[in-house]
Amino acid sequence: MAARRVRVRAPGKVNLQLSVGPLAEDGFHPLATVFQAVDLYETVTATVRADRRITLAVDPTPALAAAVGDDIGAVVPLDQGNLAWQAALAVRERYGIDAGIDLHILKGVPVAGGMAGGSADAAAAAVACAQAWDCGATRTELDEICASLGSDVPFSLHGHTAVGLGRGDTLSPAMTRGQFHWVFAIQDQGLSTPEVFREFDRLGAGAPPAAPALSDEVMHALAAGDPHALGAALSNDLQDAALSLAPHLDRTLTAMEEAEALGAIISGSGPTVAGLAASRHHALAIAAHLHAAKVAAATVIASGPAPGAVVLDDSTP
Ligand code: C5P
Repeated sequence: MAARRVRVRAPGKVNLQLSVGPLAEDGFHPLATVFQAVDLYETVTATVRADRRITLAVDPTPALAAAVGDDIGAVVPLDQGNLAWQAALAVRERYGIDAGIDLHILKGVPVAGGMAGGSADAAAAAVACAQAWDCGATRTELDEICASLGSDVPFSLHGHTAVGLGRGDTLSPAMTRGQFHWVFAIQDQGLSTPEVFREFDRLGAGAPPAAPALSDEVMHALAAGDPHALGAALSNDLQDAALSLAPHLDRTLTAMEEAEALGAIISGSGPTVAGLAASRHHALAIAAHLHAAKVAAATVIASGPAPGAVVLDDSTP
């Protein structure tokens, strides 16, 4: 008898605004952020095993391989260090499941880029395992499991455009109109999120602590579907810290300006630089300029908002 196999897709994201408060006692920073999911996806296939083993294999999508090469195994952990593996363990423990799983990840989101590719793997793996093992998980339970895996994981489950408070994991939907067109400049070397937060603390040492706050400009631009207003309102409090660790990103931001992007910011903790375009055609023109200026290892075009985790198929034996 064939084993049950479930395939789930979850999106990458860009932060339209990332306001960061002072380091709290729990080792995290309070955030006020606006996430937008974009149509670059991670697809996780979970196939039930009769024994208790967990296995993991990872391949890039053809588009990602063309951009960054196909040696994904060199930069993505293939063991318990992978968030998808941890998601499988968390689901198995919560529901007392006595079985294993074969996980396969098809990666379409740049690795270690500040676009939540690893978080999308975790969200997709949690949904896929819960369904493949027939756990009867509710949406609230999946939210809790995702929040236990990382601050960005609940948003990967949720998708669309949302405000994130707390660690970024307390979500509420944001009103948006229309589609926004993005170009992402991918870099060779990733940045570590904890290191970027530490650099943020170091740069801000001595400054009076300010509570994180949402930007009215971003919320209004989204509700109006106005990419020009959104471009002008993009902001990221981690940008100076990421630039301090990776100063060459300044050239990438300048090249975005030269190509008349409506706005450009470092995505999350970086190093991916996100540029907002007026249209898909404009996004392609910006990408061409970035190539010519040699300020990115590769570029990817995407649009948002995109849906959160969805089950693509479920082959029940
Ligand atoms: O939640 P996640 O595992 O993605 O966080 C990775 C690290 O990033 C944390 O251990 C912490 O150092 C830092 N972080 C933070 N404040 C947040 C989210 C993450 O300081 N709100």
